Amino acid sequence: MDAQLRQGFLEFRAFVNPLVALRAQLVGEPYLLDQVVDGRLVDAEGMAYTDLLSGWGTQAFGHRSPAVEAALIAYLQGASPSIYPSGISPFAGLLAARLEQRCGYDAAFFASGGSEAVEAALKLARGATGKPRIACIKGAYHGCTFGSVAMMQAGPYRDIFGPHLPQVDALPAGDMDALERALADPQLAAIVIEPIQVEAGVRVPDPAYLERLCGGTGPDGILLIADEIQTGMGRTGHFLDSGAWPRQPDAVTLGKALGGGAMPLSAMLTRRPIFDRVYGQLALAEVHASTFGGNSLACVAGLAALELLDDAMIDEVARKGHLLRAALDEHVAPSPLVGAIRGKGLLLGIALQAPDHPCYQFDYLGAPELAAQPAIGMMLVHRLYKAGFIAQICGHAWQVLRLQPPYTTPDAELAACARAIGEALDYLWDLQ
Ligand SMILES: Cc1ncc(COP(=O)(O)O)c(C=O)c1O
Repeated sequence: MDAQLRQGFLEFRAFVNPLVALRAQLVGEPYLLDQVVDGRLVDAEGMAYTDLLSGWGTQAFGHRSPAVEAALIAYLQGASPSIYPSGISPFAGLLAARLEQRCGYDAAFFASGGSEAVEAALKLARGATGKPRIACIKGAYHGCTFGSVAMMQAGPYRDIFGPHLPQVDALPAGDMDALERALADPQLAAIVIEPIQVEAGVRVPDPAYLERLCGGTGPDGILLIADEIQTGMGRTGHFLDSGAWPRQPDAVTLGKALGGGAMPLSAMLTRRPIFDRVYGQLALAEVHASTFGGNSLACVAGLAALELLDDAMIDEVARKGHLLRAALDEHVAPSPLVGAIRGKGLLLGIALQAPDHPCYQFDYLGAPELAAQPAIGMMLVHRLYKAGFIAQICGHAWQVLRLQPPYTTPDAELAACARAIGEALDYLWDLQ
């Protein structure tokens, strides 16, 4: 490994976040990653890993996608500006037009991180409706800015940062009565929902709930906002997961894979009449802004990502999703440590249930600070590292292992991953 990069890992520990580095060390996470070889991550010792997490969803097209890199290199070899002082970027224009072709939303706001897209959606909702209240769904994860944290599931990501943005309330997931009460609230501007709540444990909403949500909201009433930062860009076997809902939401957010895995890029997409209600006067046209939003390099990566993500690739996601699910049903579901397997496309969760034995608890494993959390998920993650797979648990549900591999993962690696999880579960079961 390049000496300067090795030094960089040490300096991360010193100058960025020592406990993140410690956590990686404690769970045996392969963090001294050196290069990408044939789509796999190779560490300083030459051990290769299959990334079942897609770099937290960003690497849907595989690590270091050649097509995205070629587009970036071509742009860098040209002479176009990175930033247009007028704010009128042809690259942003092209990207917005491609997104409109792909999913029908004809008004785009670009930013860098997912949370920023969520903030844009929250401000759109208040601005467009003139109403103050926002409803979200319990268990949510919409990012870490203050607007997003106001919608966050109670717990460590939220609690110490209060007071939170006022007039934001969480509806219990799937609770029809609570939904009816929210829909009857004359002060409600919007309901924000993730098509699949990933951090809550890869929870898929009930179709009847979505139907009522779609029917009870609308562009002239309570806006429906789908946060597709995890589920969008083909992840569930549709370009947008909400594309299969009874009605298209009034606004959606995209991030993560939108930048082709190379650039930070996010978008809040809506329809022109809603956008214009907020920003449709000259004096207000730019009152929500982001300096780097829609910068050339990010948009070039976004255009390359959309070029890759054609219907054939989305069909492949659906096919590979079925294949992975079938392999999990065969090798993983029979384990007594598995409660359920759920999800859609290449976004699956394995809910674990550990027996009441001390060996499955954090204090026994030497981390009493974490004793309130289930340890079984982390134990499985640790075993998978040893087997050459990078996977993770869900942020609000540590007993659920999430699988969201790149769309380019070969079928044989998906099958091998299911076998490895099955073997790891057998090992963990035998620990008692
Ligand atoms: C559903 C959802 N929304 C928003 C975000 C925030 O995105 P970012 O971390 O890029 O700000 C995330 C991040 O994981 C997410 O999963």
